[in-house]
Amino acid sequence: MREYAIAAIPADGIGPEVIAAGLEVLRVLDQRDGGFRLKVEEFPWGSEFYKRHGVLMPADGLDRLRSFDAIYFGAVGAPDVPDHVTLWGLRLPICQGFDQYANVRPTRILKGLTAPLRHCGPGDLDWVIVRENSEGEYAGHGGRAHRGFPEEVATEVAIFTRAGVSRIMRYAFRLAQSRPRKLLTVVTKSNAQRHGMVMWDEIAAEVAADFPDVTWDKMLVDAMTTRMVLKPASLDTIVATNLHADILSDLAAALAGSLGIAPTANIDPERRFPSMFEPIHGSAFDITGKGIANPIATFWTGAQMLEHLGEGAAAARLMRAVERVTEAGILTPDLGGKATTREVTDAVCEALRGENV
Ligand code: NAI
Ligand code: MG
Repeated sequence: MREYAIAAIPADGIGPEVIAAGLEVLRVLDQRDGGFRLKVEEFPWGSEFYKRHGVLMPADGLDRLRSFDAIYFGAVGAPDVPDHVTLWGLRLPICQGFDQYANVRPTRILKGLTAPLRHCGPGDLDWVIVRENSEGEYAGHGGRAHRGFPEEVATEVAIFTRAGVSRIMRYAFRLAQSRPRKLLTVVTKSNAQRHGMVMWDEIAAEVAADFPDVTWDKMLVDAMTTRMVLKPASLDTIVATNLHADILSDLAAALAGSLGIAPTANIDPERRFPSMFEPIHGSAFDITGKGIANPIATFWTGAQMLEHLGEGAAAARLMRAVERVTEAGILTPDLGGKATTREVTDAVCEALRGENV
């Protein structure tokens, strides 16, 4: 029996609601398949922990996670704690401490969902966005001086290194190569940002030479937003910086129907450390506790986690079960339905227990 140790960090807002749903679905899968077992340990870290202990996770937090095979993460953020405290206190230390430099965000229109684009049928929007996850605009460099005075100054410095750009570019080309269309779009802003972004373009061309079977092109990030809306079928795999891909992937999620279905994986491709799997959305204070959070993003990232663990068949089965349920119209309010988190979760579990999924 293959056994995987999973660290669950539900954290804040709807995080605990969707992670509980995700763990239920994963448990049905591991019982059904019999081939593997998930050993889950939950960590009570997040904003409540911060209010009691002054930190979002203990000082030895990373050491306690290190031996796990994967991390299943909910969302962090509370109305009464500043967002930069929560983000820099929990999610970013894990991403950076475990060098999860590839952030992978698949988007497609699931069966039964109506997407906002008028001329976009099923199959016309099937993308994977690869976000550089270790440096760039979110490297944390910069500072503030003369606080509160008229001459106050703040700098926010983007860091691009040859090593960092090369490794994400290689990851993106490899991923594009593994997909049927073998198509990669490299996004920058190399007209206005003429140092780091020009280096991106140069490194893309260098790496491309090692992947002659991948067709690739370049887009400026502003023009990319229009292409995503007007010509979605012209895109497949997309690679961009930390900031650019952060923004583009929210747009992608909206174009596919809702933030509530969009998953993401923070991957250490070298597998030195556990990778982390999470929904893209945040803690959604406006719907916390109402029982209507869409659990599909968390299911989908659960499928990414299974895939990463080498359980590709179970991952595919989970996505088939999810699409069985979306096709049947069992949808939460963010997708225009009336179903609760509970009802969607039960329906997916039932589909998974069925014979032909
Ligand atoms: P959000 O993603 O929490 O919510 C945006 C909108 O989408 C809200 O109207 C919400 O109800 C809706 N929504 C999000 N997930 C949904 C789901 N599963 N089902 C149905 N509707 C859903 O973003 P917002 O409001 O900007 O941020 C709230 C908090 O979350 C902030 O503290 C923010 O810092 C944090 N956050 C944390 C993230 C993380 O942990 N990775 C990512 C994004 C935000
Ligand atoms: Mg974002």
